[in-house]
Amino acid sequence: MLSIDPSTKARMEKASYRDRKWHYSATKVMFWSTVFGGLILYAGFSLLSSEDSSSSSHTAVKWGGIDWEKRVKMSARPGSGSHKAVLVTGAAGFVGTHVSAALKRRGDGVVGLDVFNNYYDPSLKRARQKLLDQADVFIVEGDINDSELLKKLFDLVSFTHVMHLAAQAGVRYAMQNPSSYVHSNIAGLVSIFEACKSANPQPAIIWASSSSVYGLNTKVPFSETDRTDNPASLYAATKKAGEEIAHTYNHIYGLSITGLRFFTVYGPWGRPDMAYFFFTKNILKGKQINIYEGPDHISVARDFTYIDDIVRGCLGSLDSAEKSTGSGGKKKGPAQLRVFNLGNTSPVQVSKLVSILESLLKVEAKKNVLPMPRNGDVVYTHANISYATNEFGYKPTTDLQSGLNKFVKWYLDYYSVNGRH
Ligand SMILES: NC(=O)c1ccc[n+]([C@@H]2O[C@H](COP(=O)([O-])OP(=O)(O)OC[C@H]3O[C@@H](n4cnc5c(N)ncnc54)[C@H](O)[C@@H]3O)[C@@H](O)[C@H]2O)c1
Ligand SMILES: *[C@@H]1O[C@H](CO)[C@@H](O)[C@H](O)[C@H]1NC(C)=O
Ligand SMILES: *[C@@H]1O[C@H](CO)[C@@H](O)[C@H](O)[C@H]1NC(C)=O
Repeated sequence: MLSIDPSTKARMEKASYRDRKWHYSATKVMFWSTVFGGLILYAGFSLLSSEDSSSSSHTAVKWGGIDWEKRVKMSARPGSGSHKAVLVTGAAGFVGTHVSAALKRRGDGVVGLDVFNNYYDPSLKRARQKLLDQADVFIVEGDINDSELLKKLFDLVSFTHVMHLAAQAGVRYAMQNPSSYVHSNIAGLVSIFEACKSANPQPAIIWASSSSVYGLNTKVPFSETDRTDNPASLYAATKKAGEEIAHTYNHIYGLSITGLRFFTVYGPWGRPDMAYFFFTKNILKGKQINIYEGPDHISVARDFTYIDDIVRGCLGSLDSAEKSTGSGGKKKGPAQLRVFNLGNTSPVQVSKLVSILESLLKVEAKKNVLPMPRNGDVVYTHANISYATNEFGYKPTTDLQSGLNKFVKWYLDYYSVNGRH
């Protein structure tokens, strides 16, 4: 029982006295109840809509309407020779933009989905959107955790595949904003799987996990069959959780699911929060850059993988994906479940990365060598890619020098360095 304090009681008694006074006129009561009813309805609606905007992280998101539906359907239509219609989440992101453009180029229907959050400069996401717009790929603005939106999209289009690349990326940001990782990488992933499992036909799903699931492992190269239960960051833990959640949706609903463990992807239109990107920015500005080293002065090294190689890996895994087996939310038989490393197989020390950038930019970097803080980064990554090579012929062809050359060209042009444009 709720207890009522004396002042509330007094107010209630006053109100009931007023009520008695109003009793004489039935019409007056009807008039006021209409007014109050309206007010309550209005309050209810504004509560609902404010809840909506707060749950769609960071940005107020609009979708729906006849024109919007037309654009979705147009964008999803495969060209002649293709029977694929692909929903690409995170399409305004670095990898998502490249993958969407590649799918469209070869004739697949592509619909993008992205919330355009401001984890990094949203104007870069808008510029990528413009690029895709010119390629006739429409990006729906919305949140992957918005199950109503997903249902609407699956009502409009029979997607054959979902290329799920939307996520809260970045290792260090997890200490600042842990809930964004839970929102996008856990809740968002589940809402994608839920929508896929209920869709008829169920699409095959390809989604981005991460090399970070190898965490503190020391056995190299990293193979898919290695244990992955030593994550070093919340980011890694949410990707690992995603792989386990994928297992359950495959097992219970017959969804065909392929997880891709990307190894440090770089290239044009890349992510400003990654070292190769902000090193370039700071070297050009004459600002000092921090280079971390592991315990006992061990150099930090990464298996840097060029974006075009990653795109080929994404398309290869999509093309080799089998169909999901369930329908009407029910499993009909066993379905495919795979995890692939997509790396470059040749780790490069960060000091080497810096010297390549120095020579390409023709500027000497102001280097500050520091011990690596324990904030989620690992010392070393190295992919064993033989599984992907055997399954769909994955074979990276770009070394760090030529990949960075392309990145730097793009960077100088995009940011109009040297007074161009
Ligand atoms: N780039 C790498 O080196 C790398 C390495 C390993 C794994 N990955 C994974 O690959 C995928 C793509 O990474 P990227 O480098 O292109 O990152 P990105 O941040 O550029 O792209 C992710 C996109 O997803 C969108 N997004 C985030 N949360 C969303 C939500 N709740 N609803 C809708 N959209 C949302 C963001 O706005 C962004 O545009 C991610 O899953 C990432 O975790 C990337
Ligand atoms: C995701 O959406 C569901 C409703 O569909 C909501 O209950 C939940 O709070 C959301 N989760 C996050 C982490 O935003
Ligand atoms: C790479 O992975 C394959 C399985 O895909 C395994 O057979 C092989 O031994 C691994 N190679 C190394 C060097 O670990």
